[in-house]
Amino acid sequence: MYEVTAVLDGRLVDFEGHLARLDRSLREIEMPRPMPDEGFREVHETLIAENGLKEGIVYLEVSRGPAERDFAHPPMPTPTVVAFTQARPLVDHPQADTGVAVITIPDIRWKRRDIKSTSMLPQVMGKQEAKTRGAYEAWMVEDGAVTEGTSSSAFIVDRDGVLRTQPLGSHILPGVTRLAVLRLAQEDGVPVEERPFSVEEAYEAREAFMTAASAFVLPIVTVDGRRIGTGEPGPIARAFRAHYIAAARAASA
Ligand SMILES: Cc1ncc(COP(=O)(O)O)c(C=O)c1O
Repeated sequence: MYEVTAVLDGRLVDFEGHLARLDRSLREIEMPRPMPDEGFREVHETLIAENGLKEGIVYLEVSRGPAERDFAHPPMPTPTVVAFTQARPLVDHPQADTGVAVITIPDIRWKRRDIKSTSMLPQVMGKQEAKTRGAYEAWMVEDGAVTEGTSSSAFIVDRDGVLRTQPLGSHILPGVTRLAVLRLAQEDGVPVEERPFSVEEAYEAREAFMTAASAFVLPIVTVDGRRIGTGEPGPIARAFRAHYIAAARAASA
């Protein structure tokens, strides 16, 4: 099980959401908790301090622990915790101003995508396909609807100006940034429908964007090479990005 938490101005962003999701992932696979939430926080804050990290991410991984090879759980495992920091520009993300291209690919994953585990071969292959085809992200499609990106939640602003994204369920990861953006939408009076959208609806959307802890909100300007809206980052995506960063800074100030 793993989590990636953004660090802005040396402080963790939306950390409670990441802790809650990690706790849920661990419970779903009956993995013992290696430490309480305060312990995870201390690990993160120590790493940030010791690496002098101002902006970037902390990656945390919890595995069941060393044991003889077997599919079934070992009787008394001692979980292993690995974590590290990575410095990278989040506010001045290289593509925040230009927007990014996405492609669509079939969603070939298993049926418990709500568990944040490192079993991500389909996403690894999808991300590489995006890169090979000159795109930044791949949106995965199941039964005609976009589920999510290989490492991000997927949003459109449809022709009626409604913000659309998949409802939560076992078919997608409950994105921590997704939830934060839905809250911002409520504050900003943007109408929201947690309802699937098709690839066609994405092509015809006014705007599209993706969210992830490591990217915040990134505008999408093309889907499968088709221009979305004006072909420039949309005003709603831009506003959410600015609002998200301001709220994260205010929360950690
Ligand atoms: C499949 C998938 N969906 C969505 C997300 C975005 O989640 P979060 O906003 O919590 O980073 C990720 C992040 O890695 C992901 O891997």
